[in-house]
Amino acid sequence: MSELKNDRYLRALLRQPVDVTPVWMMRQAGRYLPEYKETRAQAGDFISLCKNTELACEVTLQPLRRFPLDAAILFSDILTIPDAMGLGLYFETGEGPRFKSPINSLDDIKKLPIPDPEDELGYVMNAVRAIRHALQGSVPLIGFSGSPWTLATYMVEGGSSKAFTKIKKMMYSEPQALHLLLDKLADSVTLYLNAQIKAGAQSIMIFDTWGGVLTGRDYQLFSLHYMHKIVDGLIREYDGRKVPVTLFTKGGGRWLEAMAATGCDALGLDWTIDIEDARRRVGDKVALQGNMDPSMLYAPPARIEQEVETILAGFGKGNGHVFNLGHGIHQDVPPEHAGAFIDAVHRLSKPYHQDND
Ligand code: CP3
Repeated sequence: MSELKNDRYLRALLRQPVDVTPVWMMRQAGRYLPEYKETRAQAGDFISLCKNTELACEVTLQPLRRFPLDAAILFSDILTIPDAMGLGLYFETGEGPRFKSPINSLDDIKKLPIPDPEDELGYVMNAVRAIRHALQGSVPLIGFSGSPWTLATYMVEGGSSKAFTKIKKMMYSEPQALHLLLDKLADSVTLYLNAQIKAGAQSIMIFDTWGGVLTGRDYQLFSLHYMHKIVDGLIREYDGRKVPVTLFTKGGGRWLEAMAATGCDALGLDWTIDIEDARRRVGDKVALQGNMDPSMLYAPPARIEQEVETILAGFGKGNGHVFNLGHGIHQDVPPEHAGAFIDAVHRLSKPYHQDND
């Protein structure tokens, strides 16, 4: 087993005692950091940055040089899988991700290949290996993927969407076509995440950014079912350590019990749910990650600290809390506010772990 200097993030996910509450931020490497923008310019564009092992490693480490974060997250994107399936990912300035060849029919779905993670996605595994090497056991490395449902929304809509009309039309009128797509994605994601674990990812997070736009019944059938399948297929112990799995459905507060029943180790919470309620409902089954509103980072540091205290008190004493934002950090947040947030979590959480000393 390789040694880790700071393993409080992994310990908290497994609901083991820690000295202070661990903290990291979704999208912690990104445009709010001037050094990120510089490295991205050096790479040319975002996709080239993801595909450049050395620079992807560099931007992963940038937030860790500034802040005492308790975990690193692989610098990549959830849309690498659809790109490897041949859809042709590109980014239109100001419009987010787009695909040259979106999915239009059952025939398109039948033709989709299951990508080999060490071949078409080999650049991601190279980044994982390089980052693990560069971290030198300082903090754990998080690997990730999108959920099948969330990936399918981009593949069928052709990019970002507000109303999800194309994929919902498919869901309600050709459900068997959508199920075939989700099944292929679940297989691809399982292979991809297991390859990340073998390359050195020490924990896994599945981002279901758009599960919350579904009805409860459709969430079960079209999103959760496939995440459950992935959880069942993941390597859960590697190199002598448990590899914790976190599921995050934005807008998924209604379904925490069902999510916890998949056998995952932790649930990511967005800011619309009270962490106190979440702990009462599922805290005996899973750890909880979250859940400050990312827009709180626009407020002065004193207000940020107050919110950190409120969330710490909401979770209460005991094990099983990883502090995070309820979604990704916004690109125009002052980096000093992120620093104040991280310091506040470590400083103010001590009393909540005192019985562990
Ligand atoms: O958290 C991290 O620091 C790791 C890197 C990471 C990125 N994307 C980098 C990125 C992670 C974990 C993701 C996941 C991701 N990508 C999700 C799920 C999480 C979420 O935010 O809900 C989704 C839905 C995507 C798809 C995607 N990629 C979108 C919607 C965008 C934003 C487009 C835009 O112009 O803002 C991206 C691009 C992207 N992914 C950026 C980064 C740093 C910005 C690209 C840039 O440098 O301009």
